[in-house]
Parts: sequence; structure tokens; C-alpha cells
Amino acid sequence: MNVLDEKFAEFQTLPTEEKIKCFQRDGHLFDLIISQQLNRKVLDEIYDITYQLRTKSKSKAGAIHMQNLLPHKRAMLYFSQPSSRTFLSFMGACHIVGMKTSEIRDTRVSSEIKGETYDDSLRTFSSYTDLIIMRHSQKDMAERAAWLLNTYSNRPVPVINGGSGSDQHPTQAILDIYTLQESFRNRGGLDGKTVLMCGDLRRGRTVRSLSYLMRNFEDVKIIFAAPESFQMEQDLCDFLSRNKIPYIVETEGLDNVVAEADAIYMTRIQDEHDTVAGESSKVDKTKFNLGLKQMAKVKPNAIIMHPFPRRDEIDVALDPDPRAMYWRQERNGMWTRAALIAYVFRVHDKILEY
Ligand code: CP
Repeated sequence: MNVLDEKFAEFQTLPTEEKIKCFQRDGHLFDLIISQQLNRKVLDEIYDITYQLRTKSKSKAGAIHMQNLLPHKRAMLYFSQPSSRTFLSFMGACHIVGMKTSEIRDTRVSSEIKGETYDDSLRTFSSYTDLIIMRHSQKDMAERAAWLLNTYSNRPVPVINGGSGSDQHPTQAILDIYTLQESFRNRGGLDGKTVLMCGDLRRGRTVRSLSYLMRNFEDVKIIFAAPESFQMEQDLCDFLSRNKIPYIVETEGLDNVVAEADAIYMTRIQDEHDTVAGESSKVDKTKFNLGLKQMAKVKPNAIIMHPFPRRDEIDVALDPDPRAMYWRQERNGMWTRAALIAYVFRVHDKILEY
């Protein structure tokens, strides 16, 4: 353990509310590391920016205006764990607001392969860029990056967490809530709805980040449907209890609960986190797949979501069903992420005023 390891270990003992202060500037979002940083006011602002940015970018003049927001800034995409959607949508988002991008997608092609530490690598990236968007296979590495640059760097740049281990994926949660709010726009938004989350809840970072955001909405209910060994972790259930968000746990099968849901959020088995080879394949997941049989019980105005990638947990036969929202959900990612970047760099007024 070096001195930075010791200092970071101390930082990690702080209550969440204290840690969050490290990720702000003048009370404004600077780094985005965990969903708990986002309150309703910030979410609504980001969604308003998203709407305006998306609508106004449809014309050539509007798109050029947006590309002039941040042409003097550079973003780095440091994705040491595989990604299609988060990587591509963030790259697209940077381009929408005029940022130039660079990338490292494999630590075998950075100097980490020569023994450079993670901390030195991050400080090096911040020498050349104005924003680091990152994904990492381990849970605390985005938090460490933001803490390090804010505390032990002469060039602190914002860090946005594009997925950290099995812990959090806050920008996925932003786009998921946006999708829910837009889908229920004529029915009072997400308030009062029942959200069913299904799949590998124990190791799925998207369901964790999404669950944290539920405290920003009124009368929301959650159903966690998964085999016992993939059920939601106790710390997240405790968070829901503390925040008086009702949830129920279903371990027998999706059939028992599909009819109750306004939104069904499916996830794949996260077997990249297996600690023993083949661990996940020993669990019978078949009762937690969504097919035509289950869809017959689903409310006619419910929506089906999935952060993707999917395997067999949603039958492709469902894709033409108007309740299947996952492709639209995926597209929402680029626009909400562009809005987030504009918000972090405080140029969003130039979008709203245009
Ligand atoms: N939803 C999501 O994070 O997808 P990718 O892993 O492809 O980025």
C-alpha cells in the first residue's frame, strides 16, 4: 500500500454525502461517479437540456450552433472494459457539443502494460484532455480517478463514470429515467408507477444505479425478480427501506409478477463477474426470461426496457411489439449524455437560449 492507497482508503470511509462534496464545484456537478449525486432538480434540468438539444440539432444551423459550444475542449474515453453503447454514445455526445475525442480501449496499448500505475495513468490523461469518460472492470476505480484528480493533481478535470465493476453506471440510469419519463409523459411520468427489474440484480450495475434514482420520484414501487442467487444486494435494499421506497422480491419466476408492472427492466447475467468458472451457468434462469407467453399478461400500456447487450432474456419475437422500448432507450443515451456534458461544462444556457 502506498500513501495514495492509504489516503483513498480514508476517503472511502466517508459517508456518501461527504464524498459527494468532492465531486462538486460551487455546488454544481463536476464529476459524475454515483447516482446518489443526482437529485430531481438536476435530473429535470438535464432532461430539459436533452429535449432542447435534440430538437434544435435537427436543423443544420442548430447542429452547427451546438458544435460551437465546446470546440476548445477535448475529451478522453478511457474504456478498459468492453462497451458498444456507452462508448459510441459518449463519443457521439462529445461530437454533438463540438468536443474533440481521444481514446484508450485496452490497457495493453497504454503504458500501464509497462508498469505505470493507474494513478499515474490518470494524471497523464488529464495532462492532455479536459474531460475523462471512463469504464473499468473494478468497482471503485472511477471514484478513485475523480478523488485523485481533485486531490492530488495540478490539473483536475471532470471524470464521468461510464460503468464501474458491478457497482454503478450512473449515466445509464440517467438515460433509463429519461426513457421512463418520456414513455409515461401523458400519464404523469414515472411517479406512481411500478418498475419490475429482472435478471442478474446482484451484479448488475445498471439496476443498482437506477434503483438509487427512484428516491427522486413519488409513490414508485419496485419488484426485484431473479433467482435467489442473483437477487439484489442487501445494501441497496436497505437504501430503499431508508428512503421509504416499497419493494418486493420474487424468486420463483417472472410469470408471477409481470402483470403488475408499468415498466419491465430486463438485464442479462453478468457472468464476467463469476468468481468460479461456470458459476452462472449452474443457475436455472429460464423462468426469468421474457417471451410471448409472458407478454400476454403484461399491461397493454407497459414498456419493456433493457440496457443491452441482451442474450436470451428477451425473445427477439418481442421486438416489433410497440411496448418494446429498448432501441429507443439506447438512442436516448447519446442525447442525455450530450446534455450531461453541456451541463458539467455549464454551457447549457447556450442551448436553452438558442
Ligand atoms: N448499456 C451498456 O452499458 O452497454 P455497453 O456495455 O455496450 O456500453
